[in-house]
Amino acid sequence: MKRITVIGTGYLGAVHAASLASLGYEVLGMDVDAEKIAALAAGRPPFFEPGFDELLSEQVASGRLTFTNSYADVAAFGGDDRANTVHFVCVNTPQRKGEYAADTAYIDSVIDGLAPLLDVPTLIIGKSTVPAGTAARLTSRLRALSPAGDEMRLAWNPEFLREGYAIEDTLRPDRLVIGVQDEESEAALRDVYKPLTDTGIPLLVTDLATSELVKAAANAFLSTKISFINAMAEVCEAAGADVMLLSKALSFDPRIGGRFLVPGLGFGGGCLPKDIRAFMARAGELGADQALAFLKEVDAINMRRRARTVDLAREQCDGSFLGKRIAVWGAAFKPDTDDVRDSPALNVAASILLQGAQVTVYDPKANDTAAKNFPTLNYADSALEAARGANLILHLTEWREFRELDPNAVGEVVAERRVLDGRNALDSDLWRAAGFTYRALGRPSAV
Ligand SMILES: NC(=O)c1ccc[n+]([C@@H]2O[C@H](COP(=O)([O-])OP(=O)(O)OC[C@H]3O[C@@H](n4cnc5c(N)ncnc54)[C@H](O)[C@@H]3O)[C@@H](O)[C@H]2O)c1
Repeated sequence: MKRITVIGTGYLGAVHAASLASLGYEVLGMDVDAEKIAALAAGRPPFFEPGFDELLSEQVASGRLTFTNSYADVAAFGGDDRANTVHFVCVNTPQRKGEYAADTAYIDSVIDGLAPLLDVPTLIIGKSTVPAGTAARLTSRLRALSPAGDEMRLAWNPEFLREGYAIEDTLRPDRLVIGVQDEESEAALRDVYKPLTDTGIPLLVTDLATSELVKAAANAFLSTKISFINAMAEVCEAAGADVMLLSKALSFDPRIGGRFLVPGLGFGGGCLPKDIRAFMARAGELGADQALAFLKEVDAINMRRRARTVDLAREQCDGSFLGKRIAVWGAAFKPDTDDVRDSPALNVAASILLQGAQVTVYDPKANDTAAKNFPTLNYADSALEAARGANLILHLTEWREFRELDPNAVGEVVAERRVLDGRNALDSDLWRAAGFTYRALGRPSAV
């Protein structure tokens, strides 16, 4: 049976580990965060991801999925057969403080901690998102630090999963990309992913740098698509046009397509913003300045959406937030996750708070993670509680729960019937019929 370790058991690694265990592999998850490891080992997810609760507990109960916080356990996994164990590295690669570039220190520390313990030729596979050139640099580091020296192998296998669909995306991805330096690594990775490729999922084999760039380019393209429609929203506002109708009309063109074409508050999260910035930084280092200038504008359009939402909210509060009560629906950076990293919703909530309003936030899953990061905001246990006495409701993360609310019931608890739909996802007719002033980015006030 194939044995696999997964180092770094956050949103990506924990799902990867449990999904591989569900394919029948024996998997050891490792993390430096002792609390996270204790929770995972007890079958308790340390974060919210649809379906992960059941998957994790099933796999832990089966005995195929275990956890540790020791590199020695990782290196020894597989015993005498440990040369056939493959090690996936899924640690975080955040934006460096005060810079655009990615901080790859966490991956370096995995190599530094693990390599000296790997005494037989072994394959390490990076899954974290990294700047082009990182895998080549790490190969040298790995070989210098491991007793197995130049026989150590490193490959890159970028991850494209979306939080909220992480299990589905891991077990049924659109494609698998593996960047390899030798046939043995390719064969090992083909073997790991055989249960997926047998179902027809394409697997592309590339060099290391291309595999790193595929991920950066995919995120750059998606960000560009979102910022494109948001730039159109700016023009629509100026021209008195309706960006939702514009977007719908564009979406029928198969060359354009409707996905990632919904105008609104823009993108956030632990990936897109820091990944396009890391891509910009790396493109700049490599002298590919066109990509740099272009992505800077994508980033700027996205950040302007947050400021514009605050401005529109202030307009709806008759020019000042002072003494106003604002309900914020949504804290997660998108629905179906509790991840609040670089959340546009919290960014808007916090700036309105700083401008003198009383802000009460409600998110179906992310109240706790939000409160850890933004303890000065108020948190409510329900959408209606958040809305009680509000002068304005801001709809900032498009959870289904918010679309299903009865605007008449909401109208009974608010102080003033005003809603600003930062995600263009509420039914404007329903809200207007319940007596609300409905505003949304990129749409005329009467639409
Ligand atoms: N979250 C996603 O949707 C997603 C999707 C695709 C790619 N990625 C990429 O995957 C990587 C991980 O992202 P994430 O969202 O899972 O991050 P995360 O912060 O949720 O998880 C990273 C984990 O790595 C652990 N870690 C840090 N240093 C370690 C070390 N030296 N040894 C062992 N564990 C260590 C941390 O404690 C943490 O639990 C990033 O590069 C990200 O860009 C994430």
